[in-house]
Amino acid sequence: MKNILVTGGTGYIGSHTVVELFDNNYNVIIIDNFSNSKPKVLDKLKEITKKEVKFYEGDVQDKTLLRQIFRENKIDSVIHFAGLKAVGESVEKPLEYYQNNIVSTLSLLEVMKENKCKNFIFSSSATVYGTPNKLPITEDMPLSTTNPYGSTKLMIEMILKDLYTSDKSWNISLLRYFNPVGCHHSYLIGEDPNGIPNNLMPYIVKVATGKLPILNIFGNDYDTKDGTGVRDYIHVVDLAKGHIKSLEEFDKNPGLVIYNLGTGNGYSVLEMVKTFEKVNNIKINYKITERRPGDIASCYASPDKVYKKLKWKAEKTLEDMCKDAYQFEKKQ
Ligand code: NAD
Ligand code: UFG
Repeated sequence: MKNILVTGGTGYIGSHTVVELFDNNYNVIIIDNFSNSKPKVLDKLKEITKKEVKFYEGDVQDKTLLRQIFRENKIDSVIHFAGLKAVGESVEKPLEYYQNNIVSTLSLLEVMKENKCKNFIFSSSATVYGTPNKLPITEDMPLSTTNPYGSTKLMIEMILKDLYTSDKSWNISLLRYFNPVGCHHSYLIGEDPNGIPNNLMPYIVKVATGKLPILNIFGNDYDTKDGTGVRDYIHVVDLAKGHIKSLEEFDKNPGLVIYNLGTGNGYSVLEMVKTFEKVNNIKINYKITERRPGDIASCYASPDKVYKKLKWKAEKTLEDMCKDAYQFEKKQ
């Protein structure tokens, strides 16, 4: 059984990937500092998987702790989710973002190298495409960033490419996620952000459950089908399964690879609201407000490369995403 170190494994995408890893007979070791997750996720993971999760509480920047983890476990591969991810916050606190995201990745890679563990999956983001000059977005399109969060993702991609150039025995997978939503079918784990949500779906579910009064739709004058922003929403369980395919590729097709993990479908904010209302038979109060600074009109993936190479594609529908997100929120 292979041992996979999952950094940020109690977070939203990490926890769903841990479930898929156990389902696919991997053994999991998690490190997380709970800066954006809660210890109860560990109990939920045990309830879902009926397996013991080995957990280390701490910061991925801490090389002493990382060395201890590698000493106590024979790690085959690392999936690196840990990081700060709020775009707006990154503009206000750039140093925290560079410190946390860049330094943790450097510490991790250094300790992996010391231990001759060279299989690495990185949580990158569609944000590295900046404002795309055509759609759908393919992996070879130009890269740029519009905020410090995006810059950390792009810088880490550059570090990983340089590392690979220096030593071709690394297997590195840069997975560029589009917009994950939804949750595991048990509704035990899901997206549970602290404070007022920044993202669309967590906001919609709070309006649906009466925890927030009204959804603000940020602009209806974009050059899109109905004027509201268009994104590629992907069910988090599909996204998690993509990581299993990526791990399997390390044996079959070693090297550095880059994949978009999206569905290829773009939905507008209004389409999201309408679908949510229909699937859950509930009305969502909304009003149109100013555009949000830094937003782009449309962003959706070409998922062709990842399908061709890994035979992975998203299976779940927008209806599944809307239903699951609402059910999870109702249980909170
Ligand atoms: P999340 O905040 O739910 O999970 C991240 C986890 O990492 C949290 O549990 C947090 O406590 C932990 N963490 C952060 N810094 C740490 C550190 N230095 N040491 C130890 N633990 C640390 O976020 P998520 O949505 O699950 O995202 C996971 C990854 O995917 C992130 O790197 C994020 O940038 C990337 N990503 C997310 C999205 C999205 O929309 N959710 C889109 C693209 C990329
Ligand atoms: N939106 C609203 N009202 C809200 C929240 C969002 O109208 O209350 C709109 C936005 O303007 C945008 C769409 O809904 O048009 C999606 O916005 P999100 O904030 O949910 O997602 P983003 O596409 O802005 O960004 C997310 C993550 C990034 C990640 C990116 C990858 O926040 O970290 O997806 O595509 F990089």
